[in-house]
Amino acid sequence: MPLSSAHAAFTWARHHNRSLAAFNVITLEHAEAIIGAAEKVDLPVTLQVSENAVAHHGSVYPLAAALRELGARAHVPVTLHLDHITTEDLAHTAPDIGFHSVMFDASTNDYPTNVARTSAFVAFAAPRGIWVESELGEIGGKDGAHAPGVHTPPADAARYVTDTGVDSLAVAVGSSHAMETQTASLDIDLIAQIAEAVDVPLVLHGSSGVPDDLIVAACRAGMTKINIGTALNIAFTSAASEALAEGGSSDPRKYLAPARNATQDVVFHYLSLISGPRPTR
Ligand code: G3H
Ligand code: ZN
Repeated sequence: MPLSSAHAAFTWARHHNRSLAAFNVITLEHAEAIIGAAEKVDLPVTLQVSENAVAHHGSVYPLAAALRELGARAHVPVTLHLDHITTEDLAHTAPDIGFHSVMFDASTNDYPTNVARTSAFVAFAAPRGIWVESELGEIGGKDGAHAPGVHTPPADAARYVTDTGVDSLAVAVGSSHAMETQTASLDIDLIAQIAEAVDVPLVLHGSSGVPDDLIVAACRAGMTKINIGTALNIAFTSAASEALAEGGSSDPRKYLAPARNATQDVVFHYLSLISGPRPTR
C-alpha cells in the first residue's frame, strides 16, 4: 500500500469521525511493532521521529529510509512525521526524506519569534505538500506548551492559527510529556472550547500520562491526533529487562523480540481506543 499523506489521514479521520494515533519511533523494532499492530486492527497509523531520536542516531536519513520502506510495504496507510523539530535545517529535510508532516516546534520562543519562524516554515512546506503542525501553550511560556499546569486559551489558539497558517495545532490542556503513570487530568471543556474556536485539527501531546477514559473523552471533545511515546518505551524496556534477567544468551534478538511484541500490544490497545469505531454513548 502506498504511504499516506497527512492530508489524507486527517481527511480519513474527519470523514469517519475518528481520531488519529501517532507513535514515536526510536528503533527499527518500534516501527515494526507499530505497523504490525496497525495491520492487526486494520487502521491507519502515523510513525513519528523526534529531534531527540534523530540526535540519537546521528542523522535522520538511515532511519527515514527504513521507515519509508516499512511504510510502503504495510497493508494499512502509514504517514511519516517529524516531531518536535526546533531547527529549520532538520525541518527542511522532510520533502527529501519522504516525510509527510512536520511538527515545527517554536513553542519556547516569544510570540513574535514563534509566529515569524513558524509562518516562514509554512511558506516553505505548503508548496511542497508538507503538512505543518505547531504548538502553543502559555504565550511566552519558557518551558514550552506541555509543561505541567500550562493551558492554551482558546482565543490565543485562534489568533496563532491565523497568524501562522499552520495545518494543525498542538494545545496544552493538562497533559505533560514523559509521564510514566496515567495520572494526568485533562480539561475536556477547554478542548471543546478550543475546537470551537479554531478551524484546524487539534493535537494532544504527552498522551502516555493520560488515563484511557480521558483519551476517549478528549477525542470526542475534538482532539484529532493523539501522540504517544513513553508508554511504548515502558513496555519495550520492561520486556527487554525481563528477557535479559533470564540470561542465557548474548544474542540481542533474545530481548529485542519480546520488547517488540510488548510494544505491539500497547500500540494495538491505543489504536483501538483512538482510531477504532467510537461506541455510541
Ligand atoms: O510528541 C510526542 C508525544 O507528545 C509523546 O508524549 O512520550 O509523553 O507519550 P509521551
Ligand atoms: Zn510531544
